[in-house]
Amino acid sequence: MPLQIIVGAQWGDEGKGRIVDWFAAQADIVARYNGGDNAGHSVTVGSQLFKLHLVPSGIIHSRPIAVLGNGMVINPEALLNEIDMLANLGVDVSPRRLRVSHAAHLITPAHRALDAALEAQRGKGSIGTTGRGIGPAYTDKAARTNLRVGDMLSADFGEKLAAHIEAANRTLTALQAPVLEVQPILSRFAEYVSRIAPYIADTSAETCAVLAQGGSVLAEGAQGTLLDLDHGTYPFVTSSATTAGGVFTGLGIGVTAARDAVVSGVCKSFQTRVGSGPFPTEVFDDLALRLRGTGANPWDEYGTTTGRPRRVGWLDGVLLRYAVRINGLTELVITKLDILSGLETLKLCVAYRKNGQIYQDLPFGPTELDGYEPVYEEFPGWSEDVRDIRRWRDLPSAACDYLQAISQLTGLPIRLVSVGPEREQIVEH
Ligand code: GDP
Ligand code: IMO
Ligand code: MG
Repeated sequence: MPLQIIVGAQWGDEGKGRIVDWFAAQADIVARYNGGDNAGHSVTVGSQLFKLHLVPSGIIHSRPIAVLGNGMVINPEALLNEIDMLANLGVDVSPRRLRVSHAAHLITPAHRALDAALEAQRGKGSIGTTGRGIGPAYTDKAARTNLRVGDMLSADFGEKLAAHIEAANRTLTALQAPVLEVQPILSRFAEYVSRIAPYIADTSAETCAVLAQGGSVLAEGAQGTLLDLDHGTYPFVTSSATTAGGVFTGLGIGVTAARDAVVSGVCKSFQTRVGSGPFPTEVFDDLALRLRGTGANPWDEYGTTTGRPRRVGWLDGVLLRYAVRINGLTELVITKLDILSGLETLKLCVAYRKNGQIYQDLPFGPTELDGYEPVYEEFPGWSEDVRDIRRWRDLPSAACDYLQAISQLTGLPIRLVSVGPEREQIVEH
């Protein structure tokens, strides 16, 4: 299959990284098309836990070339730290294997400072951003004033960077936030330029060439459908196109590549969200602790990037059906089934109720969730530990019934179910 898109079907952290890792061994290119180091993608291989923020998760396999596409916003310091981390773990991150789009946008210390200052100004209405400068960088991109990765190669990059920091300082002053010193930033960036230059490429041309030769491209989404700038729970969203449509603009490939594409929606067997915003199926107290975990295990629900505890709840089938439509999903991948083992009863939100009326779908998508109450269908749980199961027929029948209900609700086949964070803890259907 020439193009496979792995996209988060919820509010991010669905386990995309480990699912990309599952498919990456057969791919020629694994490419990130959106976001920046707000993402945190975990891949566990044996005793090694890889936490990736910018570099596509496919890099861990030796075959694919990893692409950071033009739709991304890239903090060069974070990228170099990640390259060093991977090299120390024995992963080949040479420019032969890692390609960074010349047209991707840069995140500078000014963007991070602005992210913090703007969140402080929002006070109680804060978005709960990751603080990585994502919103301000995409704001500058849309305003056509930002620096791009390719600008690092131009002789006047230092002057442009100084002007950018000075402009941001004027905004920071207006926000009563501390300003940044220009000179130390220029010196640091001078070092980044020399290290990043060999990685800069026309990744659109390279990706299109692989597709034209019948090669396979695996697109790795960051964040999730409900955090999409256009289609998510606006304004509690990120600033990029997280959904499948973003693949084409974010990698610079034509939409004809979609013809035979597989679009895999990754979805946890329950629901999580980190940051502010509506969450109709959210649960609290003991049940929340049960689903989130205490933080003792690396897979417990604490942010990979920020360490914040994630909000948790029952799987929202209405929002999942919405994700099917917005992304054109062709299949589902359900993660963290093992976490549900031992729960007596499971709830699945199959509709919403408002003023006595039942809604199978929300009238305006997830933008307006106020006053809509989840309607739950209940399922008996199972007590068996599923972590060592590798065949569908060995899953407890109650687990199969729950998965079957998700499949029926969405009209999609479930291709994979993960039963633990380890690379091999996957059940194929
Ligand atoms: P991503 O951002 O979508 O790549 O997801 P994250 O890596 O931020 O969060 C998913 C977390 O769940 C990570 O800690 C994974 O190691 C872990 N994980 C993924 N799949 C499973 C699973 O099936 N079972 C368990 N227990 N943990 C999983
Ligand atoms: P991965 O790729 C979960 C959330 C933040 C905040 C909102 C905006 O690991 O699934 P931003 O810093 O992007 O301006 O924050 O989006 N958010 C994520 N939540 N997973 C992510 O990435 C996220 N990236 C951003 O918590 O609510
Ligand atoms: Mg994550």
